[in-house]
Amino acid sequence: MTDAPNRLTIRRPDDWHVHLRDGAVLEGVARHTARQFARAIVMPNLSPPITTVAAAAAYRERIVAAAGPGFTPLMTAYLTDTIDADEIARGFAEGVFTAAKLYPAHATTGSAHGVTDVANIRPVLERMEAIGMPLLIHGEVTDSHVDIFDREAVFIERTLSGLVRDLPGLRIVFEHITTRDAVEFVEGAGPNVAATITPQHLHINRNAMFAGGIRPHMYCLPVAKREVHRLALRKAATSGNAKFFLGTDSAPHAVGAKESSCGCAGIYNAPYALESYLAVFEEEGAIDKFEGFASLNGPAFYRLPVNEDTVVLERSGAQVPELIDANGTPIVPFHAGETLAWRFLG
Ligand code: DOR
Ligand code: ZN
Repeated sequence: MTDAPNRLTIRRPDDWHVHLRDGAVLEGVARHTARQFARAIVMPNLSPPITTVAAAAAYRERIVAAAGPGFTPLMTAYLTDTIDADEIARGFAEGVFTAAKLYPAHATTGSAHGVTDVANIRPVLERMEAIGMPLLIHGEVTDSHVDIFDREAVFIERTLSGLVRDLPGLRIVFEHITTRDAVEFVEGAGPNVAATITPQHLHINRNAMFAGGIRPHMYCLPVAKREVHRLALRKAATSGNAKFFLGTDSAPHAVGAKESSCGCAGIYNAPYALESYLAVFEEEGAIDKFEGFASLNGPAFYRLPVNEDTVVLERSGAQVPELIDANGTPIVPFHAGETLAWRFLG
């Protein structure tokens, strides 16, 4: 933080929410995350999902092999209606599971096996509260009668506020928040409730999906909302409030799966994640708050040490390609074709 204005050195950041997939795509995308981040919370929505300690341990090995040395994947358990509290607790005790992820069933990609009613996993949540294991929440209702742009706010009302009230000791990360309602909820909750914020929700509002035609590469879930919400997220991320930290939700899909009559949800931002976030912090006049958001607040919430090494960004421009070849799978990255002001040097 003592560099000249055109250089920024910060402790190495971590990504507290990422989709690394598996197989050939994992081999293609893991190195992008590992280049910028020391650790990442890896989402378990594979097919089939990661619901056992053994599956998570095996997946962790595949990630380590794909990412190369110096990168630590932090694994998550995928909660289902029938998941066993003992399996979750054992995985946490053995250091295999760092957290467990709650997907409301059918809320998003790979959530078909998710939870149909949080009442069904109440014993698991009570156990997690008792052992201090973080619960990561995809916070959207799945009720088709609720407008898609309201699903996060309605989830707060119908589910999250009750969970926080009934299980006050449960450590919760409200993932990839997209609304002012979520910002206010997290700010008003106790110290056990935090949130991740993605780069795309800081950069785009819902107009981006319809600018001159339909833009599938701007579509992710939770979907981007109105401008007033984007502005609230920018304020929260750059405020210095330690409840908010970096989680890219980088979610790669092949270009053909996005540019389709039923395109997949997910934005692939891993290759230029830090450049993307830093652009926002600079625009908000808050570069001094960047290290907290990217490198300090997440470890504090997860009760992990901060990384010892540092990374450098330089104000020399990063040209984002139109397409990235992820080991044979073509993927359009976030900011495709744009030049971002800052460049990650390593
Ligand atoms: O846009 C999204 N993509 N949101 C999610 O919650 C899942 C993710 C994916 O796995 O593709
Ligand atoms: Zn995600």
